[in-house]
Amino acid sequence: MTSKLSSFICQNCGSETSQYFGRCLNCNSWNSIVEEIKSKRSKYQDIKNSKKSIEFNEISSKKISRFTSGFKEFDRVLGGGIVPGSVVLLGGEPGIGKSTIVLQSAGKISLKEKVLYVTAEESLEQVKIRWERLNQNCFDLKIFAETNLTQIIEEIKRVNPNFAIIDSIQAIHNHEMESSPGSVSQVRACSSELQNLAKENNIALLIIGHVTKDGALAGPKTLEHLVDVVINFEGDNISSHRLLRSIKNRFGSTFELGIFEMFEEGLREITNPSSIFTNKENISGVTTTITNEGSRPFAVDIQALVNKTFYSNPRRTTTGININRLHQILAVIEKHVGIKLSEFDCYVATGGGFEINDPSSDLGVAISILSSLKNIAPLASSSFIGELGLSGQVRKSNNLRTKIEEAARLGIKNIVVPKLDEEINNNFKNSINIKEISNIKEAVDYSLLNY
Ligand code: TYD
Ligand code: MG
Repeated sequence: MTSKLSSFICQNCGSETSQYFGRCLNCNSWNSIVEEIKSKRSKYQDIKNSKKSIEFNEISSKKISRFTSGFKEFDRVLGGGIVPGSVVLLGGEPGIGKSTIVLQSAGKISLKEKVLYVTAEESLEQVKIRWERLNQNCFDLKIFAETNLTQIIEEIKRVNPNFAIIDSIQAIHNHEMESSPGSVSQVRACSSELQNLAKENNIALLIIGHVTKDGALAGPKTLEHLVDVVINFEGDNISSHRLLRSIKNRFGSTFELGIFEMFEEGLREITNPSSIFTNKENISGVTTTITNEGSRPFAVDIQALVNKTFYSNPRRTTTGININRLHQILAVIEKHVGIKLSEFDCYVATGGGFEINDPSSDLGVAISILSSLKNIAPLASSSFIGELGLSGQVRKSNNLRTKIEEAARLGIKNIVVPKLDEEINNNFKNSINIKEISNIKEAVDYSLLNY
């Protein structure tokens, strides 16, 4: 037996109420609540209980055999490849390249596995035009243009692929529900049906989802907890670089980062990221730091421009670095190097606008600022690593050894680092000159001669 029920759902946060409000009680957004009619199964309906719990010790621990996405960078973010039966949500702003990366990946996977690509946004011809730009091979790749969930499920069951793609979740609809495609309840209902299908048939499923302006996945948090892996595809309109960032991963680390570049003929992976975020020029205001993103260290330039201000409050802006971190570094320089910066504007940007979250970039920021202020290039072929403490000391950094290794690999001659715990120095004797410092003053004296 079924009965019609209506509920009021916020399209921003997904919270549900029994009556209409002009403003969501949960996320406070205005006019976001929409009435949705849903059919509810009677709770007295019989449930066939055919499944039984089993002894934990009886579960066989056979190793999961993942298959490759065709991109090393994509595999890294997934935790080492695609897990059969897993559901991956790939989010990103419209136009960032989600359909492109997925189509490229589908082609590569189809050389070994059976792949079904469901396009709900574009026609078969449009996908073919995109495919022709990509100039690559495929083998067992089927494509299905449909927006109706029931039809999609039927087709997935019929084809029974190893890997299926839904492009995108906001464009498909369950016709049993009255709300429009893309609404929270549609997205939620369609995802959970697809999720069940994937789990029952051991199909790896990749669902594409658009991200709203403020960065949340539309039909948001409710979707994230349903799936096994949530990945964001990021980038901006100016640069051609694209980053794949894992936000949630039941099968791997969430700190991994995959780097791509968009070309006329599709996306290419960047396996040596240090080369794109550094310039290797020895000029004032620019230093190089080695930052850690996931398991991988790489070099990023930090540029600073310090100018006499014309404003009553000096301007401070950052790209790729947290603005509060900059304020803190400026305060440490004032207090512990004894240089007044309150009359200067200060702009700091990372190479390619790459977002650095590793606090060990502080020292690089500080040296760049002083180098620009004094118009002196820092020590040639050098790199700076260390978090600045409020009392001017340079604090330890995570993964220092791998960072030094990366600097040596890039041919950097000098590296300024916090005091080393272990005797790492000997290992690098011939490849790089390591300068251990304990506070910012020492770092400045060493790297900015005559400042
Ligand atoms: P698309 O994959 O359609 O984005 P999404 O699915 O995330 O909305 O990517 C569209 C953009 O990518 C578009 O601006 C054109 C660009 N592009 C290239 O630069 N080269 C290519 O080979 C392709 C296919 C797209
Ligand atoms: Mg698309």
